[in-house]
Amino acid sequence: MPKREPRIWTVDTPNTSYVVALDDEDRLHGLHWGPALTTEQAASLLDLPAPAPRPATDGLDARLDLSPGSALRWGQNGLQVRFADGTRDLELRFTHAETEERRLRLQFEDPHYRLDIAVEYTTRPDTDVIERRLSVRNRKTEPVELVRADSATWVLPRLEGYRLSRLHGEWGAETQLTRNELAYGETHFGSRRGLTSHQANPWLALDDGTATEHTGPVWSTTLAWSGTWRIGVERTVADRVAVSAGAGHDPVAITVGPGESWQSPLSSGVYTEGGFAASADAWHQYALAHVLPHPEELRPVLYNSWEATEFDIDADRQAALADKAAAMGCELFVMDDGWFGARTHDGAGLGDWTPNPDRFPKGLGPLIEHVHGLGMRFGIWVEPEMVNPDSDLYRAHPDWVYHQPHRRRTEMRNQLVLNIARTDVRAWMEDRLDRLLTENEIDFVKWDMNRSFTEAGWPGAEHPDDLWEGHTRNLYRVIDAIREKHPHVRIESCASGGGRVDFGILGRTDQVWTSDNTDAVDRIDIQEGFAQVYPARVMGTWVTDSPNPFTRREVPLDFRFHVAMAGVLAVGGDLEAWSESELERGAELVAAYKEVRPTVQHGRRTTLRAGEVRGAQFRLGDEVAVLAWRRGRSFGHDDPPLRLHGLDPAARYREAGTDRVHHGAVLAAHGLHLRLAPDDYASAAIRLVKED
Ligand code: GLA
Repeated sequence: MPKREPRIWTVDTPNTSYVVALDDEDRLHGLHWGPALTTEQAASLLDLPAPAPRPATDGLDARLDLSPGSALRWGQNGLQVRFADGTRDLELRFTHAETEERRLRLQFEDPHYRLDIAVEYTTRPDTDVIERRLSVRNRKTEPVELVRADSATWVLPRLEGYRLSRLHGEWGAETQLTRNELAYGETHFGSRRGLTSHQANPWLALDDGTATEHTGPVWSTTLAWSGTWRIGVERTVADRVAVSAGAGHDPVAITVGPGESWQSPLSSGVYTEGGFAASADAWHQYALAHVLPHPEELRPVLYNSWEATEFDIDADRQAALADKAAAMGCELFVMDDGWFGARTHDGAGLGDWTPNPDRFPKGLGPLIEHVHGLGMRFGIWVEPEMVNPDSDLYRAHPDWVYHQPHRRRTEMRNQLVLNIARTDVRAWMEDRLDRLLTENEIDFVKWDMNRSFTEAGWPGAEHPDDLWEGHTRNLYRVIDAIREKHPHVRIESCASGGGRVDFGILGRTDQVWTSDNTDAVDRIDIQEGFAQVYPARVMGTWVTDSPNPFTRREVPLDFRFHVAMAGVLAVGGDLEAWSESELERGAELVAAYKEVRPTVQHGRRTTLRAGEVRGAQFRLGDEVAVLAWRRGRSFGHDDPPLRLHGLDPAARYREAGTDRVHHGAVLAAHGLHLRLAPDDYASAAIRLVKED
């Protein structure tokens, strides 16, 4: 990234540019985020008339790329400090720029308070995603508080309108996509719960209100953080818009001690043309290339015993389920909650990570051997950040949980949160997991986290607020350490379903549990929202029983499988209660999934829609997988053909398992005739292979 002019810098990606420039007061303005500009073109941005604020009223709101709380700033600040003497305004001077290939670092200082601030932009040769972070160094002898220290403030160009897409939800209804006109003023969303949350996901997309699935420019940002967070979008009356994203929440501040440095997590942003599909695709490709630890792997078809047994676990029943799962073609057997301590219900045992001696008198060894003997890998459920008050761990260490003096300890699901920000508790957690994985041949860990923080205090700590950030940083540290010591172990991130899904956790886990709601009909929306950001390669999807235990809805087996095939297919039903024909059909569908698995998990996804038919298409090389689902037909109307995207118009595509051959041009212009049954809950999984 060569320096274009003394005070203007261009961050280039293969197809886009982000341009920033300093004004005479050393304020960093965002000048451009959009199509690629040459050096000369970028430099000419300085000739454009600067937006002229009305001096008495308007400030510099929503125009600054580094937006510190300081003079002429009344909008949202991406950086807000509090010095020891009470001063809050920052007066930053630019000191220098460090430019390397694919990295730009702009360095500022507040000379009086000797506080260094750096903004950093990183790009990659194969993606238009720009990664950003903020760094702080305190060179003074007093601490400084960071009230707000966003990873990035992204300045959007002026558009004719602004529409905000985001994901909200709740337990059992995660990643619900909404698209609404962006309100004037400030729009904030985030989490104060201690984890990413079901309620909001750290992603957004902005367009001018006219983008469609396949057309139009879209600006999108994410935050790679699994603790509390906030994203603020500001729209001024003069239609300037900026997005500021960072860890932390009001009113918690981070203290940076004398001589200490602090670095924010990453916020990433991508500008794409080609509608919401292109934006989602950019995130998926970025995740596969630069976020996941083992993106090249195909995730196995897993079986999870939770819905079949809940807490009623014993070695024989698990072994019997494993037999059925193996026969169906599952490749990884995961024993869920209830195997340890006194955990025969949700009121006891959390924290005591040794096998329950009544349920596993000979330890886990015999079951693991049995599962391995069936040719499957063995996985286990843990919830290491938690404790039941009725546990040996809590009886020994009642001070290890977050708590505040003279306040009650509010339980959720009869459990409290361990203060893993404490060094001793973090060390205990790492040691316990290390021992579990050393003593047993475990291949996979489902790492759960089932409650939000309450009474989040740390009596005796110098800066109790540090627990919020410390929890997440130490969680990352432990996962990283466990991965390093047990490199063959793969990890699933779960938090009562999809409560901890973000690019921070995905940088160190292999898949996520999308939702405790396994109803295939509800899952269509949950999965479509999820797919706005995260790739199918990480989206855990179970086929469970009918009627669904969560919604009581009855859905045919094929429909349940076809919806689950859009992610990392798994089986989570009570296989001992399935009929022979269901088990047989299940095995056929697992085999069909394995045929399209590389295309689904490593290919490019597109959302499909035609009339009442919904679906997803995946493309990889010469292979195309089409999954389609239709709940019911209104007025007996026929299903329209489903238009496909990104195919070679000159090529022919053979439909596997049939003698049908389709022309790429016709599939794009008219669509694929699905031949769905006229009944409710009709569905299809179609594999197309390009002919030479
Ligand atoms: C959470 C998870 C479930 C299951 C239970 C076990 O709710 O999301 O999948 O593991 O905990 O208690």
